[in-house]
Amino acid sequence: MDFKLSEEQIAVRDAARDFAQNVCKPGVIERDSTQTVPLEQIKQLGELGFLGMMVSPKYGGSGMDAMSYALAMEEISKVDSSVSVCMSVNNSLVCYGLEAYGTEEQKQKYLVPLAKGEKVGAFCLSEPEAGSDATSQRTTAIDMGDHYLLNGTKNWITNGSTASTYLVIAQTDAEKGHRGINALIVERGMEGFVVGAKEDKLGTRGSDTHTLMFQDVKVPKANRIGEDGFGFKFAMKTLSGGRIGIAAQALGIASGAYELALAYSKERETFGKPICQHQAIQFKLADMATEIEAARFMVLKAAWDKDSGNNYDVSGAMAKLYASDVAMKTTVEAVQIHGGYGFVKEYHVERLMRDAKITQIYEGTSEIQKIVIGRAVTK
Ligand code: CAA
Repeated sequence: MDFKLSEEQIAVRDAARDFAQNVCKPGVIERDSTQTVPLEQIKQLGELGFLGMMVSPKYGGSGMDAMSYALAMEEISKVDSSVSVCMSVNNSLVCYGLEAYGTEEQKQKYLVPLAKGEKVGAFCLSEPEAGSDATSQRTTAIDMGDHYLLNGTKNWITNGSTASTYLVIAQTDAEKGHRGINALIVERGMEGFVVGAKEDKLGTRGSDTHTLMFQDVKVPKANRIGEDGFGFKFAMKTLSGGRIGIAAQALGIASGAYELALAYSKERETFGKPICQHQAIQFKLADMATEIEAARFMVLKAAWDKDSGNNYDVSGAMAKLYASDVAMKTTVEAVQIHGGYGFVKEYHVERLMRDAKITQIYEGTSEIQKIVIGRAVTK
């Protein structure tokens, strides 16, 4: 593995840093408070080519590698994870899924506007009774000949009300277990498709998280991704890449909190000297810096695996498992270093601490990552 970033990767990272600091940072506290979806920021992300980063230019994408994507995710997540989770879902789950497994017709119709950032997509797997146990889908897609009849409810769907294109995982033949599951492309506006309640969340409060209901929605057969019964494997393969994006998000939350805590510790004085000169604080900063460095190596290794054509199921799961724990621990310590200031919104670290928690939950909880890793190492 080459540790030197290319000129292009550095340029992407710097552009993302600039975007985060100048476009995302203003108003981030207010958006978190009022649960306002960062629509303007998402629009500009699209214009910068950050919503279809790894998609081939042939389909309207930026044709970049996964390393560049991870670097950009880290920079934006340092400031606003409500923006970066939209970016992650659109890039890793929706665009990747369509480009890797869609038909040419599906790519032209759905992928091109998503990769250009003209539209946003959503990935709909989780259900009220099927979160970690993803094979237990209750949403049904009954084969009616030329179309599927889709019925069910999906929960906690990122980009739920702002998306135009939804990749919906549903059970066609329960007797076949995971081999009876299909992935369907559902368009906003299809009859019987209802966007339900918005969630009132602990963190990433600006992100657009909704329940979705499907009541006798007719989805054309042409909108099925892959062969009949490919839906579960489609979800697993797509989520493997998604976990690299969320690992990079967790890394960004951790490094954002660390940078704030370090700067504060150099300004704040107690007992006659800046608090960074006290060993109690230095030990915390040393742990934070070390763990962030380790998490960064793991995130970039997983991205490098993807770019190199290696299997990244395990390296992505390891990166997400470790980076999300580092995000949680680092943000708690960043609040501690800020003392009373850390507990108020103005100093940003309490928001980063709340945002960190979801990285241990979505795209597979930490326990799910351990299942993926544990099965691989004991095989
Ligand atoms: N690639 C390809 N195939 C895979 C695969 C992968 N990464 N993982 C599993 N499979 C295949 C298996 O080989 C098996 O196929 P065969 O029977 O043909 O061999 C099949 O899929 C079933 O696999 P398992 O027996 O391993 O399935 P399982 O029921 O034990 O579940 C699991 C495995 C890893 C626990 C899985 O259910 C899982 O990942 N759960 C978590 C789901 C998740 O991440 N949800 C997040 C929602 S999306 C989200 O959060 C987005 C957002 O809004 C931010």
